[in-house]
Amino acid sequence: MVKNKQNNTSKDAHLYLSASQKLKQLISQHKDPTQKLPSLRQISERFSISLSTAQSAYQVLIDDGLIQVRPRSGYFLTTKSDPQLQPQVPAPDPGAKRVQIGELVVQMLALTRQQPVINLGTAVPEPQLLPLDTIAKAQRRISQRQRWAYGSYSPSSGEPALQAALAEYLQQKEIPCSAEQLLITNGCTEALRLALINSTQPGDVIAIESPTYFTVLLQLESLGLRALEIPTSPETGIDLKHLATMMSAIKVNACVVNPVGHNPLGFVMPDDKKQALIELCHNHGTHLIEDVINLDLTYHNHNSRSLKALDNYGLVSQCGSFSKSLSPALRVGWLLPSHQLTQITTSKFISNVSVSTPCQLTIATMLEKGWYQKAVNKHRGQHAERVQKTREWILQRFPQGTRVSLPQAGFVLWVELPEPYQAMPIHQKALEKGVLFLPGDVFSPTSDLYSRYLRINCCACKPEEVLEGVKRIARCF
Ligand SMILES: Cc1ncc(COP(=O)(O)O)c(C=O)c1O
Repeated sequence: MVKNKQNNTSKDAHLYLSASQKLKQLISQHKDPTQKLPSLRQISERFSISLSTAQSAYQVLIDDGLIQVRPRSGYFLTTKSDPQLQPQVPAPDPGAKRVQIGELVVQMLALTRQQPVINLGTAVPEPQLLPLDTIAKAQRRISQRQRWAYGSYSPSSGEPALQAALAEYLQQKEIPCSAEQLLITNGCTEALRLALINSTQPGDVIAIESPTYFTVLLQLESLGLRALEIPTSPETGIDLKHLATMMSAIKVNACVVNPVGHNPLGFVMPDDKKQALIELCHNHGTHLIEDVINLDLTYHNHNSRSLKALDNYGLVSQCGSFSKSLSPALRVGWLLPSHQLTQITTSKFISNVSVSTPCQLTIATMLEKGWYQKAVNKHRGQHAERVQKTREWILQRFPQGTRVSLPQAGFVLWVELPEPYQAMPIHQKALEKGVLFLPGDVFSPTSDLYSRYLRINCCACKPEEVLEGVKRIARCF
């Protein structure tokens, strides 16, 4: 009986693998990414296979990054990256510098509260792209069945139920960890801060990607750390040659990267580059901190492993959260540190005791019941579709010569304007027209490095509103 079952399984595998080979040949003749690929039914008839085998065959091509599925539309070729249109990588100052960006960031963030405005600035998906009903269901269960949660402090390291559910979830992603090794934090922001506090001293040099998410810059500024900006490709991530040269020249105490679904560039770093980064940091005694907030929001599965999953040295500290995939308001994240938790847990206790117990239990429930996994799988396809549409709208409407990133995860686009346009004056004019985006200046400690760049959230609101926002910005040139 068991043998028969095994035979069937290997027969199924053979069928869909051979179908996926034929499919690869078929799509090699298909040149236009806007044209739909044959439907599952057509493939099933053409190759005389079942619908489920056709689906498994397509899945192989999706995992290889060759095609993508657009909800309710069908299968399409993955749009190949066009080097002509990807934003260029300007050269940052070679030296390490103190960061002074706080004032500008606070000014920008204050603008997000201006109403009414089409807010394409804040990096949060609209409520439709978050499983808010399921979160409410989980919270109802907690208020009915675990009411004690509202009357107690959680341990500083985290609520055991969440630590256990999260450890199991991360293990499925090949990330070696136990419940006890995880520190539950107030979002990824606190995880990054605790990782930095516990691996650096004021004055230390921290290598960062350029451009980089501005909260990292704020942390460096407030901890008195010096930023060493490393040029970063919108396709493959941090320039390892440049980093290696700098590491040979000066002591780099830590390196902070966002390797899977980078904000604002959207790349997923290839696994061999991730491995090389780990080796480089290991050879130079440099702490490696990874921000994996978009780990579950990649459009394809290839290269979507975190650094921690590839780390044989126990070198990487991983910082993550559920802010982009579930809810930014629950403020639940984690730190999986490279070393002993005890000291870090003390730092956590000193700053804010612990994370809200009901919020931790909400996420634990979502993970235990598989509700979280279902929601992210649904939404990342929607992100991919909206990002692609918004990219087309921008390229059609912004001045000739505009370059736009081709993200592999998340929902933001990084846009480079051609000379002589500057993002700040356009930002001001766009605000007067009721649209907000983030100017490139907040993504670097070097003033003017990204003065012709901007970041746009493609999922901030309904597609028609995003389109309206793009049109209004386009009228500012
Ligand atoms: C790359 C990155 N890291 C960290 C954060 C902050 O995450 P949290 O809201 O979980 O603190 C963000 C939010 O935009 C982000 O984009």
